[in-house]
Amino acid sequence: MSTESSASLGITESSVPAADPTETRALHVHLPTDKELVLKVIPMPADCNANGDIFGGWVMAQVDLAGSVVPARYVDGRMATVAVNQFIFKQPVRVGDILSFFAAVTRIGNTSITVQVEVFAERFRAQGRYIKVTEASLTYVAIDDAGKPRKIVKT
Ligand SMILES: CC(C)(COP(=O)(O)OP(=O)(O)OC[C@H]1O[C@@H](n2cnc3c(N)ncnc32)[C@H](O)[C@@H]1OP(=O)(O)O)[C@@H](O)C(=O)NCCC(=O)NCCS
Repeated sequence: MSTESSASLGITESSVPAADPTETRALHVHLPTDKELVLKVIPMPADCNANGDIFGGWVMAQVDLAGSVVPARYVDGRMATVAVNQFIFKQPVRVGDILSFFAAVTRIGNTSITVQVEVFAERFRAQGRYIKVTEASLTYVAIDDAGKPRKIVKT
C-alpha cells in the first residue's frame, strides 16, 4: 500500500505504528488451506476503542458477515444468526491491518449451519506476513417469510 493511498484512508505513518518485528516473527502463520477466503477489510480509526486498538464489537460484526457467506449458498433465502458458539480474540486488531476472513462449514443440520471463521491480520508495513487475530464459531438458521426456521435442502 503506498503512503498516498494509506493517507487517503486516514492511515498515516504518524497515526499508525509500524509492525513490531518481534511480534511478526513470533506469531507469523500460514493461511488455512481448508477454508475459503470470504472477506477482506481494513479497519479505520473510527473503529477504535479507548485503548487505540480496534473495538471488539466491530470485529464481531465483520465475523458475523464473513461467516454468513458460505451458508448463504445452502439456505437459498433468508437466514439469521442464532448463536455465537465461541469467539476468541487471540491478538489485538489495529488500524491499518489488512484483515482476511476464512470460513468453512463444520455442521449442516435440519435448519441450521455452523461455520468456523478464522481472521488473519497483515500488520501495517508488514504486509504478506499473517498473524491469526480471531477465531469463532457461529450458527445460522434458514428462516421463512414469517421468521420461523425452515428446512435446509442439502445439495
Ligand atoms: C433463529 C430463530 C428463528 C430460531 O428459532 P427457534 O425457535 O429458536 O428455532 P429452533 O429451536 O427450532 O432451532 C432452529 C435451529 O437452530 C439451532 N439452535 C437454536 N438455538 C441454538 C443455539 N443456542 N446454539 C446453536 N444452535 C442453536 C437448533 O439446533 C436448530 O438447528 P437444526 O434444525 O439444524 O437442528 C429465532 O431464535 C430468532 O429469530 N432469533 C433471532 C435471530 C436474530 O435476530 N439474529 C440476529 C441477532 S442481532
